[in-house]
Amino acid sequence: MTKLSRRKLLAASSAGASLGLLGVSTSAIGGAAAQSSELDLEKWVQELPVPDVREPDGQHEGAEYHEVTLSEFEQQLHPDLPATTVWGFDGSYPGPTIRAHSGEPVALRFDNSQLPDDHLLDVDDSIGGTQTEDYPHYDGPVPDVRNSVHVHGANVPPESDGQSMAWRSPDDETGPGYVTDVQTIPNAQDRATLLYHPHSLGLTRLNVYAGLVGCYEIVSEAEENLALPDGEHDVPLLLQDRSFEEDGSISYPEEWVSEFSGDTAVVNGAVWPSLEVEPRRYRFRIVNGSNARSFDLSLANEDGTDVPTIYQIAPSHEFLESVVSIGAGETMPSLTLTPFERAEVVVDFSEYAGETLTLTNDAAFPYMGENSGSDLADLVQFRVTEETVDDASAHPTDLDLPEPTDHDPDHARRTRTHTMGMEVADGGVRHVLNDRGMLDDGGTVRPHLNRTEIWELENDTALTHPIHLHLVKFRVLGRGPDGTDEPDPNEQGPKDVVRVDPDETVRIAAEFGDYTGAYPWHCHMLEHEDHSMMQMFDVVPGELVDYADGGVLTDGSLEAASADWEAGELERDALAEAINRWRDGTPVVDDAEVDR
Ligand code: C2O
Ligand code: CU
Ligand code: CU
Repeated sequence: MTKLSRRKLLAASSAGASLGLLGVSTSAIGGAAAQSSELDLEKWVQELPVPDVREPDGQHEGAEYHEVTLSEFEQQLHPDLPATTVWGFDGSYPGPTIRAHSGEPVALRFDNSQLPDDHLLDVDDSIGGTQTEDYPHYDGPVPDVRNSVHVHGANVPPESDGQSMAWRSPDDETGPGYVTDVQTIPNAQDRATLLYHPHSLGLTRLNVYAGLVGCYEIVSEAEENLALPDGEHDVPLLLQDRSFEEDGSISYPEEWVSEFSGDTAVVNGAVWPSLEVEPRRYRFRIVNGSNARSFDLSLANEDGTDVPTIYQIAPSHEFLESVVSIGAGETMPSLTLTPFERAEVVVDFSEYAGETLTLTNDAAFPYMGENSGSDLADLVQFRVTEETVDDASAHPTDLDLPEPTDHDPDHARRTRTHTMGMEVADGGVRHVLNDRGMLDDGGTVRPHLNRTEIWELENDTALTHPIHLHLVKFRVLGRGPDGTDEPDPNEQGPKDVVRVDPDETVRIAAEFGDYTGAYPWHCHMLEHEDHSMMQMFDVVPGELVDYADGGVLTDGSLEAASADWEAGELERDALAEAINRWRDGTPVVDDAEVDR
């Protein structure tokens, strides 16, 4: 067999010692599906990998074109662990970073043909999305390997959204939602740190766990003028938990489990890595890429003394209303990130030359809104060098951040209440929204194009759910038992995933633009999303009225297009043209009841 390091390092490691105060037990079992790999992998023995920024492969209809290949390969995740078979993009886990510019479209083709026909992990075909009869208007096979890649947080037409039924198999079987080989991402949105990841129904937890995830950044000019740390001082930290077998393979349960947690931290595809940093400011794009584990992040050092403040500048889209300082005695004590939430932060290491700092996690698993000690306490380490360096970046407290987009709740035309739930049936569990699973009839809501709605997300379950809407970025209006408490300081900016704790209602405001059509919204714990905590919203043109004219219809073309759309005789181009004309005249839609 492969030789493995069996050193008893956890107890002796600096992190083990410094985290004693957090009540951390390295042998604690996290929760429902934790698997102990029993491999005492030494921490901080390898450098943090940073994914490459992907070079385009050419042009496609005026857009920068990327052809990204999904494949299975081996990657060394730790020097003492045999190479791990993973899935990745362009032969890399995580995939390369795709960097786009605000206002400049990108065309993406995700080539699924190189993956094997057999899944790397066990496919549980008792859950929705795995059988032919799960798909409306479809009678083809449902292959075990099928992918549809979604750019999470992108404002895109539905056919480029990489949705749950838009999958394609290595043998070119395509799901009923499959429309196009090439997804066009307009990037007609402000700066953001987004992700790309697979989304096929019933498989998302396995495809992401296998390694399919990458960062997608949209850069704006205003951002480039802010004097933020950039280049090698702008580092993504994709935080994931994994469990391993002795032979190096990733381990995941054979059957669907309610929530999975791994016992090992993998950051940017490396087990417990460390990053050598200069004594200066760094920008980190922190991403929770775990299936179901939430993180509650802090910086710690060996002797429990002073650590640098974490300054959060952005919640993922645009910027925060003001920079939020995070740490002991600061505006927020720690940084909580539920699955697929992101936080962009600046950390100033200039006073810490020669010191070693650890990014630690204090969130229990499964997460119920409490930060009270974690079975996975250490994530990544920073070793600050002694050299003297120039730093032209601005101190975070001196940053003049551009105003983030807001949605005036007084202009909202509709308030909808949505509930989160869990059902036990046939001895099994599934998670639901509004008492429905993804494949149950009804439940689709129909917001009107370019109208603001308030959604009240009500959590009556015992677990925290990260709720994600496609298409839009929303603002958090309130949280707490009745949704009227102030949002957290680091939620005061546009987001696409929001944490909803048990017995809490979170109120969000979203403007439903810029496209009509059907999009999912779902819990982003991947086990919940797969079974079956996802619903659709369908953005409809609505009826045209012109306020200036006292509510009289003034543009027959949109009215007609609307009617055609309702009748299912829509030509997308014709509709788009009508909408554009309608926009130029600053009209609004009325709020006629069109829910089905
Ligand atoms: Cu991260 Cu429906 O997506
Ligand atoms: Cu998404
Ligand atoms: Cu959930």
